[in-house]
Amino acid sequence: MEKVIEQKFYHPSAEVVANATVKDYESLYTYSIENREKFWGEQAETLQWYKKWDNVLDDSNPPFYKWFVGAKTNIIQNALDRHQNTAIRNKLALIWEGEPGDLRTFSYHALNREVCQFANVLKSMGVKKGDVVTIYMPQIPEQLFAMLACAKIGAAHSVVYGGFSHEALADRINDANSRVVITADGGFRRGKIVELKSVVNKAMELSPTMEICITVKRTGQDVYMENDRDYWYHDLKALPIAGYKCETEQMDSGDMLFLLYTSGSTGKPKALVHTHGGFSVYTSTTYRMVFDIKPEDRYWCAADPGWITGHSYIVYGPLMNGATIMLYEGAPNHPYPDRWWKMIDKYGINILYTSPTAIRGLMRFGESWPKRNDLSSLRLLGSVGEPINPEAWKWYHKYIGQERCPIMDTWWQTETGGFMISPLPITPLKPGSATKPFFGNEVAVVDDHGIDVKPGEEGSLVIKSPWPGMTAGVYNDPNRFVDTYWSKYKAQGWYFTGDSAKCDEDGYFWIIGRVDDVIKVSGYRLGTAEIESVMVSHPYVAEAAAIAVPHELKGNGIHIFVILKKGFDGSKELETEMVNFVAEHMGPIARPEEVKVVDSLPKTRSGKIMRRVLKARVLGLPEGDLSTLEE
Ligand code: WT7
Repeated sequence: MEKVIEQKFYHPSAEVVANATVKDYESLYTYSIENREKFWGEQAETLQWYKKWDNVLDDSNPPFYKWFVGAKTNIIQNALDRHQNTAIRNKLALIWEGEPGDLRTFSYHALNREVCQFANVLKSMGVKKGDVVTIYMPQIPEQLFAMLACAKIGAAHSVVYGGFSHEALADRINDANSRVVITADGGFRRGKIVELKSVVNKAMELSPTMEICITVKRTGQDVYMENDRDYWYHDLKALPIAGYKCETEQMDSGDMLFLLYTSGSTGKPKALVHTHGGFSVYTSTTYRMVFDIKPEDRYWCAADPGWITGHSYIVYGPLMNGATIMLYEGAPNHPYPDRWWKMIDKYGINILYTSPTAIRGLMRFGESWPKRNDLSSLRLLGSVGEPINPEAWKWYHKYIGQERCPIMDTWWQTETGGFMISPLPITPLKPGSATKPFFGNEVAVVDDHGIDVKPGEEGSLVIKSPWPGMTAGVYNDPNRFVDTYWSKYKAQGWYFTGDSAKCDEDGYFWIIGRVDDVIKVSGYRLGTAEIESVMVSHPYVAEAAAIAVPHELKGNGIHIFVILKKGFDGSKELETEMVNFVAEHMGPIARPEEVKVVDSLPKTRSGKIMRRVLKARVLGLPEGDLSTLEE
């Protein structure tokens, strides 16, 4: 039996335990499993509803579970509207710092006015309930206003990360049949302008569905605008139609709140659907219990709002809890490696939630940078996106948390909507383990037949029971939803996560990584199929295979092997050009570490590329069982 990494417990301080919302994990967990619907019904009672549910859960047609059936709600009712009648109205909702150092703050009252104005602008453009609006923006307050405005009027938002290329953006616009895009002229990153509007212009040329583009002015350079297609947001906002009041649309619990594209094993990225009712209950509850939010807290999730982490735990979970959120536009090490630590000091941040890749990136500058700043306001830390290596965990714990702050290593996915395995502040921690399942969730590590593997042995991570945050499915593709997640353990009716994991003697979960053809680069999720299809669109390339190879900072780096078309020869220059080609056509996050020209690729007799063999070759490891290799 292989040994798990470390078994020493880090116990939370008496102070953390004394202040924690949930004081006894085991008994509440048992209760939540034995009374799942009752537990979630009770959590739902903490929110406001226009009309309450007839049933907490309708499981008559698995895997299409329906939560809070019969209820009427809108996530905005709980994220904004209800705070307008309480003391939260005058509390800071958002503290935003731009990379050049500009500062903007919004109370819940001011945020509500901004969202109403944006909502009225969207309405005037004909956006209505059920439409999909694409958002391609830098991390500026208007990105949040735009998301919230869509939700308010019952339109679904589809946020596309600003680091994606125009082709990737166009694919997502077209798949969602989106008619309206919201963007900005650009954003600041490392002292430079990242162009956004010009990317949208190119994407619009590839899109038959796009009619209107609303652009927020951020960076101020000249951008190309076309009559009757392009509008500046500040012009629209100045019109009488953009009033400060706007009725929130009453939605069914199961109505679409947003689409979010994510990479899978095959083909194009797919859009996962999240709904108003279940997502509201799941994100507000997990946020409240795991981050243990207090009324006076200032909370900073340093992810981009364009990923699920941002949707669930920058925007909706915190706002539903009336929290004060911090948002920062730019790079963590600009102009110096203590930009983040300075902001924690300056704004008195109490909770910091980030990724292992960011920690590793900042760790390499050394602890003298955090030490120059007062980090004593911090109470809790969080990690998400990939397994955190114990070395990074310990650095984060020691130099950022000053051995005082527990680290919430939250395991979850775009599909799950919120935390699935996570400590609570009271949980004794083991560096590198996401610890135990959140309430209501039955999680297990099983073999290919669905039998529990022994403690400490590797297997597939499955979720055996439904939860309110789960995706309602793949947009317009129910079969893909069933095939991808529910076919491997069809007989048992379990959700397959795509991850492998171990569970130790103490019932602690250790995530190992993806077992499907998904690569996590700096915590970002990319499909080998997508990368390969971009690579073979290069005029010289006949065939390509992409693999993940461990990388010190990024967690994984992408390595691509290519076979050239007849008549073309490989060279160092060509390999470099191909690296740039992928970055240009997919976006900088997909920049490969290496593209290597080869004469042949190892394949099985049925023609499947044996990525494991390629990986062993790169790492100089034994190639393992080659009995199925056709060569
Ligand atoms: C995949 C999901 C959920 C928000 C960000 C990523 C990996 C996520 C952890 C963690 C180990 C993690 C898994 C998962 N992952 N969090 N705490 N420890 N691995 O969302 O892009 O949908 O990716 O990220 O492999 O399946 P995503």
